Amino acid sequence: MAVGSIMVTGGAGYIGSHTVLQLLLDGYQVAVIDNLDNSSATAIQRVRELAAHHGPSVTFHQMDLRDKPALDKLFASTKFDAVIHFAGLKAVGESVEKPLMYYDNNVVGTITLLEVMATHGCKKLVFSSSAAVYGWPKVVPCTEEYPLSAANPYGRTKLFIEEICRDIHRIDSEWKIIMLRYFNPVGAHPSGYIGEDPRGIPNNLMPFMQQVAVGRRPALTVFGSDYSTRDGTGVRDYIHVVDLADGHIAALNKLSDPSIGCEVYNLGTGKGTSVLEMVAAFEKASGKEIPVVFSGRRPGDAEILYASTKKAELELNWKAKYDINEMCSHQWNWASKNPYGYKPSESKS
Ligand code: NAD
Ligand code: WQD
Repeated sequence: MAVGSIMVTGGAGYIGSHTVLQLLLDGYQVAVIDNLDNSSATAIQRVRELAAHHGPSVTFHQMDLRDKPALDKLFASTKFDAVIHFAGLKAVGESVEKPLMYYDNNVVGTITLLEVMATHGCKKLVFSSSAAVYGWPKVVPCTEEYPLSAANPYGRTKLFIEEICRDIHRIDSEWKIIMLRYFNPVGAHPSGYIGEDPRGIPNNLMPFMQQVAVGRRPALTVFGSDYSTRDGTGVRDYIHVVDLADGHIAALNKLSDPSIGCEVYNLGTGKGTSVLEMVAAFEKASGKEIPVVFSGRRPGDAEILYASTKKAELELNWKAKYDINEMCSHQWNWASKNPYGYKPSESKS
């Protein structure tokens, strides 16, 4: 896409903030909307500082995606060329406990966004989907054609939204939609100035390990050591968040291709890494020992999951550049400079 004006929902969050920075560095004007449910406005301020010498600017609008009048007002005041839609709740366990909250926030929020976009004639969308739509794949690497079967309400919100997008494109070919299925995003911007800052106890491996390394938690619990993998622990496709952010720029470019309709792409590295391999890489990068405690398998976990990246490489002209060691070293750079994330200390959280 010729450089233009992009709305980013959820742009204060982990992946959103890194993507907003790459957009600004590439010359896009950006408007972020976020309700700050799982993020801090400081992230946007830091993105502004990192992009200070690059001309275009970012505006921030604290609002909920489901606030239709507010969204409508923003679209009426600014012409957006496309929307990158990150906003959503993402904790798998919480989605099992509170399915209606997830369906309301993620699905109703997206429907509201799509309605307002259509009203204002903005019909270009990049959507954050997830490898969660593949459930427990029997074959890896996982291609985009793999049958869809989410294993929890969170994954189903992604699956339902994908189907909604396919449906609206089917009846209105003016819609140009790219859905990106992320595998396991980790790492942080090399500056160490922005990174992941989850609220409460982290659900995911990397932020948990990071909190062990800075002394906030005593040990990492490894879920399952009896999988049929190299060392018995689960295998995943970890991808650097900056590579992921660049994948969104590639998707925006692709939206200008007249042949694009409603497409889906995996964003991963195509390489599988076990939990223990990840622990070893993080110990090497940080120089810290990560004490581990082995426990049983976490319910709902797949054994091995990694992406086929061929489609994105061929059609988006995008390929992940960073390896596991760089992911861990950038994660540690962020963690050591910001042990309490965007908060100055734990007491203020
Ligand atoms: P995040 O929680 O850091 O960012 C999501 C942002 O959306 C947050 O800033 C939150 O405040 C905001 N938000 C949530 N509901 C909102 C609403 N109703 N209105 C306005 N803002 C709202 O999460 P992330 O890791 O950056 O994930 C971004 C997207 O990518 C999500 O849709 C997530 O499901 C998807 N995804 C994430 C991962 C991952 O492991 N991080 C993997 C696959 C897909
Ligand atoms: C990775 C590996 C765990 C934590 C989740 C969502 C998925 C997507 C990405 C949003 C697994 C093991 C973890 C810990 C551990 N998110 N682990 N101890 O489960 O692959 O994917 O995030 O779309 O939908 O399900 O990521 O980081 O939680 O786990 O041993 O404290 O680390 O068992 O093998 P997962 P994860």
